[in-house]
Amino acid sequence: MRKLISVIHFLLCAGVCVTSEVITRRGQEGGSTSIECPYDQGWETYTKYFYKGIWAHRVPVIQSNQPSSWTSNGRYSLYDDRERRVFTVIISNLTLQDTDTYWCLIGGWGFDPNTEVKITVDRAPSPPPLPAPPLTPKSFSFTSRPLHSVTHPSTIITMVTG
Ligand SMILES: *[C@@H]1O[C@H](CO)[C@@H](O)[C@H](O)[C@H]1NC(C)=O
Repeated sequence: MRKLISVIHFLLCAGVCVTSEVITRRGQEGGSTSIECPYDQGWETYTKYFYKGIWAHRVPVIQSNQPSSWTSNGRYSLYDDRERRVFTVIISNLTLQDTDTYWCLIGGWGFDPNTEVKITVDRAPSPPPLPAPPLTPKSFSFTSRPLHSVTHPSTIITMVTG
C-alpha cells in the first residue's frame, strides 16, 4: 500500500514537483559528516539506501536492512533507527571528491521515498610550512691533536660520524 501511494505520487509529480526539502551538509577534507534521513511510518522494514550522484547517474554507496546496528562500507556507515524512523549515514575521511549530490532512498525503487542531500567538502587549511632541515654534513671526521704534556699521557681520539 505504501509503495502504491508512492508510485501514484511519483506518477502525479513525474519528477517536476519538489516533494521534500534538500538536506545540505558541509564538511572539511579529512573530517566526517553525518546525515539524518527521516521517513514516514510504514517504511520501517524496507531496506534503506544511500546513493551518490545526480539522480540520472546515482549509484548506491551503502545500504542496510538491519535495524539498530551499524553497517559499514568503506568510509560510509548507516544506522537505521526504526523507532525514531530515521536512518543516519556517516561519511568519514572526507575528500574533495565527496562534494556531490546524494539521495536517502527507501525500498530501492526510484519512486519510493527519497530525499536529496547536497554535501560540500571544503579543502583543509594547508599545514604550516615545515621547518628547513638542519644542515648536517654527510659524515664528519675529527682527530684530536696529541697533547704535548709530560704529566699526562696522550691519547689520540678519532671520531667519525655519519
Ligand atoms: C580514516 O583515516 C584514518 C587515518 O588516516 C585511518 O586510520 C582509517 O582507517 C580511515 N578510515 C576509513 C574508513 O577509511
